[in-house]
Amino acid sequence: MKEKINRSFCIAPMMGYTTPYARKLYRILSKRSFLFSEMIASKSLIHSKSKDLIIENDEHNPVALQVGGSNLEDLKKCSKIAYQYNYDEINLNVGCPSKAVQKGSFGACLMKDKVLVKECLEAMQNEKIEVSLKCRIGLGKELNYSFFEEFIDEVIKSGINIIYIHARNAILSGISPAQNRSIPRLDYDFVRKIKFRYPNIFFVLNGGIDSLEKAKHLLYEFDGVMLGRLIQSNPFLLKRVDNFIYNENILSEVNEDIIYNYFDYIAPKIQYESIFRLLSPLLNIFFGIPDSKKFKSEIHTHMKKQELSKIKRIFIDFVSQNRLLLN
Ligand SMILES: Cc1cc2nc3c(=O)[nH]c(=O)nc-3n(C[C@H](O)[C@H](O)[C@H](O)COP(=O)(O)O)c2cc1C
Repeated sequence: MKEKINRSFCIAPMMGYTTPYARKLYRILSKRSFLFSEMIASKSLIHSKSKDLIIENDEHNPVALQVGGSNLEDLKKCSKIAYQYNYDEINLNVGCPSKAVQKGSFGACLMKDKVLVKECLEAMQNEKIEVSLKCRIGLGKELNYSFFEEFIDEVIKSGINIIYIHARNAILSGISPAQNRSIPRLDYDFVRKIKFRYPNIFFVLNGGIDSLEKAKHLLYEFDGVMLGRLIQSNPFLLKRVDNFIYNENILSEVNEDIIYNYFDYIAPKIQYESIFRLLSPLLNIFFGIPDSKKFKSEIHTHMKKQELSKIKRIFIDFVSQNRLLLN
């Protein structure tokens, strides 16, 4: 029996960012947010020797594992792996426009083949894990609601109930994936209309949500919201989410315990993981805090020498000296 999970506030999958370490920090700051892994190609998930490192799930639940792929047998295996690693959900990426991903026949280019996407989602189904999709609203420069509707009509025949929609078209050539996160324009109406057509499917709106206030406002209308770059640049905003979005009676603050907790998690991993990957989520603590240059440059010096305990001390000092500004 699948447990009922709340997906009102989701943190978008982001390659290079939503690592197990970032998820640890996100989970320390918010118990309720729904988390995602980075996208992992199905073949890497099945064959990579460093799989444990990439998809480790240290009780970060509720959390989804995102995969990219279109080989049905591989995707079936990925679902089993996601379950073994205690993920709550496996999500198929049909939104990434990068050339590399297109070469591997996955990501946004799959929107051209809605029957294949349906088959992928069917292959991923088993009774133990929720299966979901993340897609765009179309392909190319022109917006075309009928194309989007026909795509959704087909893919939901797979039986999935949860769809995350980055509400802008994917452009498969001529611009970079980063540019394709701001052009072409967003159109939330596509998500409104498809929800009206399928009231029983859970649609999560993604794209351009740049404040918690906006997220909360959108939740009056949409089933869920998904935020990417806002959390990437300032993860410490998450300390407000349980109270502000989920109405939990919790007033969190940024304090030294967060640093201790985070370092307890990353310290044993320094033997096999890059110090930058381990620390990069926490480095965003300096976001918007004046005069933090000194702390940052000290940390970078110690990073070169892999001196984790000295770095921890600097973060602790920073937090105790800037508590008012951080909260
Ligand atoms: C650095 C970066 C990496 C991303 N990697 C992924 C990914 O692995 N899978 C995915 O579905 N989307 C990925 N995205 C897209 C985001 O999940 C999200 O759809 C997009 O950033 C729009 O949301 P936002 O406006 O809140 O940032 C990435 C975005 C960024 C900024």
